[in-house]
Amino acid sequence: MTETDFLAYVQAGGQVEAGDWMPDEYRARLVKFVEMHANSELMGVLPEREWILRAPTLQRKLALTAKVQDEVGHAQLIYRVVEDLGKPRSQCLDDLLAGRAKFHNVFHYPTRSWGDVGVIAWLVDAAAIVSQKALLKCSYAPYARIMKKICWEESFHILHGRDVVLAMVTGTDEQRELVQEALDRWWGPLMQFHGTPIPRDDDQMYVWRIKSQGNEEARQQFLESYVPQVWELGLTLPDPKLRRGDDGVWEYTEPDWDELRTVVTGHGPRTLERLELRRRFLEQEAWVREAVA
Ligand SMILES: [Fe+2]
Ligand SMILES: [Fe+2]
Repeated sequence: MTETDFLAYVQAGGQVEAGDWMPDEYRARLVKFVEMHANSELMGVLPEREWILRAPTLQRKLALTAKVQDEVGHAQLIYRVVEDLGKPRSQCLDDLLAGRAKFHNVFHYPTRSWGDVGVIAWLVDAAAIVSQKALLKCSYAPYARIMKKICWEESFHILHGRDVVLAMVTGTDEQRELVQEALDRWWGPLMQFHGTPIPRDDDQMYVWRIKSQGNEEARQQFLESYVPQVWELGLTLPDPKLRRGDDGVWEYTEPDWDELRTVVTGHGPRTLERLELRRRFLEQEAWVREAVA
């Protein structure tokens, strides 16, 4: 099989398995993409972890703990996929801690109140599930397969987040204000989440059918599904231009792409602290890994 044949095969909806031949470029792009996903699941638990001890009730504590465990489990599953493609997990972690590998923009920001817990579980997970659902059709079959389990769990996280938000917006004025304030801070990063609106045919991830949709399609889907829900709760979004056009296409203020670039290259407001925490735990628990090995 040549690279041209391979490209035609995946573009026609064909899938490949771990042992199949694949072009070097495809493998390299796949590793980078899947590794970033795994890193994001792993780093994504840190902002939420900060709130386990501060959860307002036992039920909320249990739900948040379960969500955090799910996300760590996602990281484990996805690092396995990367390992099958030839990059050991220890190397992924080394690259992550050394700042050589990326993780999603939304996990570089601080959390300031319990309102953040609701907004993250509801809307950050919602933005993520839009991308992850599109990976169910990924040309790399092992990745597409594990996405089924992951998407199922993510949809549960969204319900948990929505429940936290609902409880707060129907509570005291102060509680409602905490959600609104969190939403105002998270909206920028959420709008940047799916990336710059490059046409999908110029996006190598789409060309190789690692992703099955373009960035803008994903953002539109997110807006279409969630903005009406946010408005329905009487909450506002900090973008005066945000509206659904007559053609069904959402219009919005251009997201801050410089901020996105700065943040994902490791210069976010909490990047260093979170990597430091991860490093400390890896060292602290080295004895467990040794004992198990
Ligand atoms: Fe996850
Ligand atoms: Fe999740």
